Amino acid sequence: TPAVTQVAFPSPVIRTADAFTNPLFVPGNSGLLGVMAVQAPLRFTVGGAKQPVVPGKSLANLLVYGSEQGGVQRANPTLLTKKGQVVEVALNNGMPEPTIIHWHGLLVDGKTDGGPQLSIPQGGEYRYRFEVRNRAGMYWYHPHPHATAARQAYSGLAGLFFVDDDEEQAVREKLGLELGDNDLPLVIQDKRIDADGQLVYRPTDEEWKGGYLGNEVLVNLTVAPLLKATPRWYRLRMLNGSTARIFNLAFFHGERDLPFDVIGTDSGLLRRAQTAKRAFLSPGERLDVLVNLAQVPAGQFVMLKSLAFDPMHQEGGHAGHGGSGAAINWPDGAEIPLLKIAVDGAAVSTPAPLPNVLSRFDDIKVSNAKIRPWKLGWNGKDWLLNGKTFQMSEVAATVRRNDVEIWELQNESQGMPHPMHIHGFVFQVVSRQDSPKQQGELAVDRTGRSASDLGWKDTVLVWPGETVRVAIDFNHPHAGAQTFMFHCHNLEHEDKGMMVNFRVA
Ligand code: C2O
Ligand code: CU
Repeated sequence: TPAVTQVAFPSPVIRTADAFTNPLFVPGNSGLLGVMAVQAPLRFTVGGAKQPVVPGKSLANLLVYGSEQGGVQRANPTLLTKKGQVVEVALNNGMPEPTIIHWHGLLVDGKTDGGPQLSIPQGGEYRYRFEVRNRAGMYWYHPHPHATAARQAYSGLAGLFFVDDDEEQAVREKLGLELGDNDLPLVIQDKRIDADGQLVYRPTDEEWKGGYLGNEVLVNLTVAPLLKATPRWYRLRMLNGSTARIFNLAFFHGERDLPFDVIGTDSGLLRRAQTAKRAFLSPGERLDVLVNLAQVPAGQFVMLKSLAFDPMHQEGGHAGHGGSGAAINWPDGAEIPLLKIAVDGAAVSTPAPLPNVLSRFDDIKVSNAKIRPWKLGWNGKDWLLNGKTFQMSEVAATVRRNDVEIWELQNESQGMPHPMHIHGFVFQVVSRQDSPKQQGELAVDRTGRSASDLGWKDTVLVWPGETVRVAIDFNHPHAGAQTFMFHCHNLEHEDKGMMVNFRVA
C-alpha cells in the first residue's frame, strides 16, 4: 500500500474549566432540535436557519431541516417514536443542490433508506413512509447525497430519532430518568468557525484524505458548554456527529477518573451495564452512559473529556496488516475538555441501584455463517473497499435474504482509523484482532471486544492494522431485492468513494 503523505491538521481550541460558561443547549419543545412525538405526517424543508443558535456565535450559515407542526417551528426536530408505529415524512429540498435524508440505524427498506441514488434536486420532494422496527435507542438522520454528504452534514443538517419500547421504559422508571432533565442527548461535533461566526468547510486535498477537523468541539451546538446538575443519576446519550474526529471519552472529577456505566450503544440497551473509565466514539456511533453525580460533593464539577490517543497505531503496528510505516499526522495528542458538569444541591435520596438486567437479546448464531472479507485500503489517491472506489451503479456484494454472514473488516489502509457503517441492518461485534494498544486495553473478554462493542451496532471503528468481525442477520421483511450502502462514516472518506452498494435478494 502506498504511504499517505504527512499532513498537519489543526488542533481545536483548548479551554480551561473556568471558560466553560455557556449553558449547554438542551432541546426544548420548539426551535433547534425541538422535541416532538411523531403522530401526524411531517414535512421537512431543507434550508438556512433563521435565528442564531449558539451563544456567542451566530453560525449565520447553518443549514437545518425546518419543520412546522401545529404552528410550532422546529429545526432538525428530535423525533420521538415507539416501536411498531408508522412514520411519514415529506422531504422538500429548498437548497440549490441535490440532497436526501438517510435514517441512520433504522431497519427500513431500500427505498426508505435514503442512499445517494435517491437524491432529489432543488424543489424536489421525497416521501418516506415506514414502520419503526428497531428496538429502543437513539438513532439519527442526516443527508446522504453523492459526494456532498460531508459538507451538508457539517453545515448543520442532522437530527435525532428516538425509539421507545417496554424494556427501555422500565429502565427509565427504575432509575428515575427523564428525557430533557437527567436523560440528555449530547450531539458532539467539531466545527471550524471563523472570527465572524461563519462555519467554514473548505477541505484541502490533504483534508479529503484525512478528514476535515474543526477548531471548536461543540456539544448540542454549544461552544464551551456548562451543564448545571444535581446529585443523582444522569444519563448521557452521546452521538458523534463530526465528519471525521474520533473521541476518547472519559469523565474526570478533578484529577481523578470518574468511572461511568455503559448501558447502551448504537441500537439500544446492553444486556447489563458495563463499568468503564473511557470509551471511543467515532463518527456515526452512539454511546449511552450513566454517571452517578451523587458521588460528587455539591459545589464541585465533573469534566467530560476526550483523552489523547494514538490514531495511527504507530507503536505495536502489525506489519502484516500494514499498520506501521508512514502515515497521516492525524491529531490525537490533544486532550480536549468537552463539557463541564457542575453539581449542586443536596442529594434527595440515594440513587436507585442499576438493574441487573437492562435488556434481553440473543447472540446471532454464526455457526453456518459465510465470512465475507472487506479490505479497507488506500491506493495513493482514494480510499477503497476491496480495492475499489464507489460506483453509483455497481453492486459490490449480493447477500441472500435470511442468511447470517460475518463481515470481516480488515483495515489495511496505512494509518487511518475507519468507522464502518452498514445501512438497513444492525450487527453484533464478534471479535477484534490486532487491535492497537489503546483499544486492546478496553477489552472485556478474550474476543478483544470493549464494553461499547457488546450491544447492537450499526457503526464500528476499525483501527489501522486491526481486523473486526461483525455478525449480520440479513433477514428482511420487505419483498423484492433491496439495495443498501456500506461505507466509512468518516464523511470525507465516504464522499471520496469509501462506500459500496450491496444488495439483499
Ligand atoms: Cu450515517 Cu450512510 O450514514
Ligand atoms: Cu474512512
